[in-house]
Amino acid sequence: MDNAPQLAAPDRNAPPATLVIFGASGDLTRRKLLPAVESLARHNRLPNEFALVGVARTPMEDHQFAASALGSRSLADKAQLQGGIRYVSGGYDDPATYKRLAETLDELDATRGTAGNRIFYLSTPAEAFEPVINGLAGAGLNVAREGSFARLVIEKPYGHDLASARELDGIVHAAFDEPQVFRIDHYLGKDTVQNVLALRFANAIFQPIWNRSWVDHVQITVAETLGVGTRGGFYEHAGAMRDIVQNHVLQVLALALMEPPASFDAEGLRNEKVKLLQAIRLPTDRDIADVAVRGQYTRGGTREDLMAGYRDEVGVDPLSRTETYAAMRLNVDNWRWAGVPFYVRTGKRLPARLTEVALQFQRPPHLPIPTNQLTDLEADALILRIQPNEGISLRFGAKVPGHSFRVRTASMDFSYEQTFREESPEAYERLLLDALLGDPTLFIRTDEVEQCWRIVDPIIEHWAADKSPIPTYEAASWGPTDADRLIGRSGRKWRNEV
Ligand code: BG6
Repeated sequence: MDNAPQLAAPDRNAPPATLVIFGASGDLTRRKLLPAVESLARHNRLPNEFALVGVARTPMEDHQFAASALGSRSLADKAQLQGGIRYVSGGYDDPATYKRLAETLDELDATRGTAGNRIFYLSTPAEAFEPVINGLAGAGLNVAREGSFARLVIEKPYGHDLASARELDGIVHAAFDEPQVFRIDHYLGKDTVQNVLALRFANAIFQPIWNRSWVDHVQITVAETLGVGTRGGFYEHAGAMRDIVQNHVLQVLALALMEPPASFDAEGLRNEKVKLLQAIRLPTDRDIADVAVRGQYTRGGTREDLMAGYRDEVGVDPLSRTETYAAMRLNVDNWRWAGVPFYVRTGKRLPARLTEVALQFQRPPHLPIPTNQLTDLEADALILRIQPNEGISLRFGAKVPGHSFRVRTASMDFSYEQTFREESPEAYERLLLDALLGDPTLFIRTDEVEQCWRIVDPIIEHWAADKSPIPTYEAASWGPTDADRLIGRSGRKWRNEV
């Protein structure tokens, strides 16, 4: 069943299986994974032969974990979850934990008919990946019985640079074969990210303009209003580049710029992404200052809503040099995109939560209208809004009603909410179902991970060696002024529209 091309399959119900979540008492499990399981059950995507096992160091009883899994939702009577939730507490490097886990899994196979199918989800801090993988292998849980499956789902960060990602791959591949491994990037589970594929490849009209002949430049923004919250300790070792650019931004960029795959099967799609990532030119050490900008938020906001600076957040070093904002100009050296700049940026504590891909088109070669009639005319743009206000806008010039011939920018808007009555599943729900179905299309292959580190590593290293003060920006502003210079050098500007 592994590797079946199922992205567009109509029938998507999970087979019998046990989902084992390591890091079961953690934040991601509570906020995203358990609600995703609950939603799959509520939408009848899980069979009655389904079980959920939480594993973590924190002591907890089955019924306490079940209560957190089911929450306040009235799901206690759902056959898929009723009586099928277990909790195993123990150290990740203690073989006894895996022995108890193996016994629990056998018991569930016998009592619930989960058929020996297992998914091990690593939602722990990255330091625990190695002991958990070794523990699973030590108990023989990495190998499935004949006719069953054993799969490993790994959360990001997948390494903290190229070398450590390769090292982690060595650990993973010593126990699991690549088809068993599902590296998650939850952005790929978002409907609007998948819609980049629908827009580009289920329509003929966009393809002719999707290239250097028509596109002036592209901007990809992942802006957040939140600060680091309670994750300061983690974020100190990550920073915006590792936390968002290396994965979410480059994945969205790859889908938006890659060549059309012949089909949406896992290898076809991922081959095209890898080819695109390989074509991204690395800056030389001397260029980095011109093509990459970082920043860190300081106190800001309004008097009523004053937000702390990054260095004052819990778990953050008061002299921290970690970037909470990163922007880059990238170039793709291939036939389609040669010469087109791609500006990407992400930051915490920006004025709006906004993720979008904006293709800005070239100006007309000649305008038969006096320029003083065009004061409010921007270049044409196609904006794919990933979140919020999910949808697509096409911005173009239109005649202003009246006796004169003035032209102003207008917009044609498609809104998901207004167009479809169907609900979007949460990204984690979609990806959990894919992992249960054995469909790796929306998961990251090992060569993609390596390409993404190849692109960000030189910049991260350059910044680590640069001892000058880190540029700052006030919370609730659009990032450091250097970012405006980065794009402004070519006479362009960021789209700061919400
Ligand atoms: C996570 C990052 O991967 O993505 C977080 O670790 C970030 O720092 C989050 O806040 C953003 O996800 P979303 O789905 O809210 O855009």
